[in-house]
Amino acid sequence: MSETDTETQARLDSLLDQIEELSQSFAGYPCNLNFDYSELHPFFKYCVNNVGDPFDDSNFRLNTHALEREVIAQFADLLHLDQQQAWGYVTSGGTEGNMYGLYMGRELLPDGVVYFSQDTHYSVVKLLRVLKARNIMLKSQDNGEVDYLDLYETIRINRDVPVIFMANIGTTMKGAVDDVRKVREILDDLAVTSYYIHGDAALSGMILPFVEHPRPYGFDAGFDSIAISGHKLIGCPIPCGVALTKRNYVARIARSIEYVGVLDTTLMGSRNALTPLMLWYALRKHGWDGYREIVAEMLAVAQYAVERFNEQGIPAWRNEHSVTVVFPKPSPEVVRKWQIAPYGDIAHIITMPQVTREVVDKIVADCVQ
Ligand SMILES: Cc1ncc(COP(=O)(O)O)c(C=O)c1O
Repeated sequence: MSETDTETQARLDSLLDQIEELSQSFAGYPCNLNFDYSELHPFFKYCVNNVGDPFDDSNFRLNTHALEREVIAQFADLLHLDQQQAWGYVTSGGTEGNMYGLYMGRELLPDGVVYFSQDTHYSVVKLLRVLKARNIMLKSQDNGEVDYLDLYETIRINRDVPVIFMANIGTTMKGAVDDVRKVREILDDLAVTSYYIHGDAALSGMILPFVEHPRPYGFDAGFDSIAISGHKLIGCPIPCGVALTKRNYVARIARSIEYVGVLDTTLMGSRNALTPLMLWYALRKHGWDGYREIVAEMLAVAQYAVERFNEQGIPAWRNEHSVTVVFPKPSPEVVRKWQIAPYGDIAHIITMPQVTREVVDKIVADCVQ
């Protein structure tokens, strides 16, 4: 390639400045901005592609499958999934992981109905349309958790149909966690034996394993598949995530593809090979103990934020073990300045590592003004 001309360079510099500046006031979305993957820059020169099943051989050998498998193995441990049974891959984000879980549920229970609460991520309605899966939206409680009474009544009148339950392990707006123990009690009570439970653990899948007395979040609690975002708590310049499920389920949908000499078990064909590398690198740098410390500090800052808002007469609150601090929607200027996510008459900040106590103080001061 020829050298970068001055106008192109100026455009790049200006975009970089803008991104740098906006990163200083990023408080409303659950992305950890504290990462540094610069040691991985040499890999940007290669056409790496993780097409196909990371656990299978491929003709396309310019890949990072080996590291992807290690990432999956680590998440399997974190989510209490036996290594022999574990299967998964690095996705393009939480949405793809949820699509994979719902697809798997639909393939295993083709007549099933998908149940999900009003507080479920907006993308799920779209995914269900794409999958043409029969579905019923349930009421949520005020804290964002599914309304178990509504779940009970709705399943009761559809008892002849298998259940695919989409559990929120941390809702987008309120960080609420559906109690999968209660869900299973309801299924037992109604003698529903044919069911599949997918967990959308986009953010809290990286929080609950590190706290005392969490709501159930792992495969030992009865989940059949779980999706976690990689660019959220771990932090990554490229959106990504992890989809985990059981190996014997995947065998039901796998097809062998001669063209790439690999099993077609993932939703995408060509797949990002840099994001598995980044997740692998981040996990090696921090280890689960590192994330335990990061999570403890995020939770402490979330509590600090609730208290500072409350001191100023602003009724902020958060769910247990959540870093999502909910409060009445502030002025449009504050929403814009801090890139805050509004929804109806509420808003939230999420105390990701860059949202320190000092940042919280500034946000509270702006809200008071
Ligand atoms: C609970 C939840 N699920 C799914 C998603 C979608 O994740 P992604 O944006 O990584 O596709 C989000 C994103 O914010 C989320 O909060």
